[in-house]
Amino acid sequence: MDASDLSLLPPDIAEASRSFEEQLAACNSLDALLRLKGTFTGREHSHAARLMEALKAAPKEQKKDLGALANQLKQAWEAGIKARQDGLEAARRRAAELAAKMDPDLPPPMPMRGALHPLQRLQDRLVDIFASLGFHVEEGPEIETEAHNFDGLNIPGDHPARGSSDTFYLEQHPELLLRTHTSPVQVRVLRRLAPELDARGGIRFVAPGRVYRKDDIDPTHSPMFHQVEGMLVGKGIGMHHLKGTLEYAMRALFGPDTRIRLRPSYFPFVEPGAELDVSCPLCAGKGCRVCKGSGWVELLGAGLIHPNVLRYAGIDPETWSGFAFGLGVERTAMMVSQTPDLRLFFENDQRFIRQMGGLD
Ligand code: FA5
Repeated sequence: MDASDLSLLPPDIAEASRSFEEQLAACNSLDALLRLKGTFTGREHSHAARLMEALKAAPKEQKKDLGALANQLKQAWEAGIKARQDGLEAARRRAAELAAKMDPDLPPPMPMRGALHPLQRLQDRLVDIFASLGFHVEEGPEIETEAHNFDGLNIPGDHPARGSSDTFYLEQHPELLLRTHTSPVQVRVLRRLAPELDARGGIRFVAPGRVYRKDDIDPTHSPMFHQVEGMLVGKGIGMHHLKGTLEYAMRALFGPDTRIRLRPSYFPFVEPGAELDVSCPLCAGKGCRVCKGSGWVELLGAGLIHPNVLRYAGIDPETWSGFAFGLGVERTAMMVSQTPDLRLFFENDQRFIRQMGGLD
């Protein structure tokens, strides 16, 4: 219907007609729709009824056009109201069906809840244990210099670990590499804090993080894994301090009956160097599949800081001494959780991750 048609109508009905669709769309309930129906097409006082009166009173020459227009409008209003009524009734039926199906005793669907990865949780726990002894947390970059990863740690130029068959070097920058252990953080922290050493009275930190080696993937090796480094510098520090600290930490981690032992070992950056074994946390030292019947499992490398490492950082080894240790997080997690293959920690199968709740 065009505008010239509506000009035949009384102005208020023309206005109502123009806003019909809008008013119809605003009817969100059957009650509202019934009110609109009464206003437009009701038997009395509606726009349609008033149109009929206007038609009767119209001069003869207008009756034909006005009659046709009134009819057309009434039909359009009725059809619009009917279609809206059908839609609202269908929606009401659907809601009633759903309500009949709903069991109010069932719990509502819950969104999946995230959780920290088991390796992260174990790492956090280790950090917390050492934090309780006053160790603060340090971090270092995963892309390191040869100087930090090897030179500053008294690792000689011809050491096999420096070779490109063991270490990932950056093709464009052959002096840079992916750190092979967290020990370069020792060099960074010692150098940074050396000037404040007297004022601080010593240094204690742990440095968790990712490390990389050209190791083939197998059940106990991954080319990317995590370590937690620890270091303490003070005056008159000896193996007894190292042993006491590690015994405390291992008991906090595995339980109060855990025993430890240090076996002589070699790392260029410590002297003397040692490997730390703990009494097997699964069989309490009696001998089982995990400890291969020995009652002991190897956990970390440690030792007293080599004088050359202190010297490289500008610290006088005649005055200062200390200990350091480095632990593999995946191997520790395997032992705590009796997981036979560390690849499971990287595959992110949620069934496995959920079972690992036991790591806490
Ligand atoms: C080191 O990396 C020394 N930086 C540790 C250290 C620090 C010694 C301070 C003395 C003082 P090692 O190469 O043994 O040591 O590695 C430490 C631990 O990393 C191992 O005991 C093992 O648990 C873990 N590890 C080594 N290679 C892998 C690998 N490919 N995948 C998973 N874990 C590994």
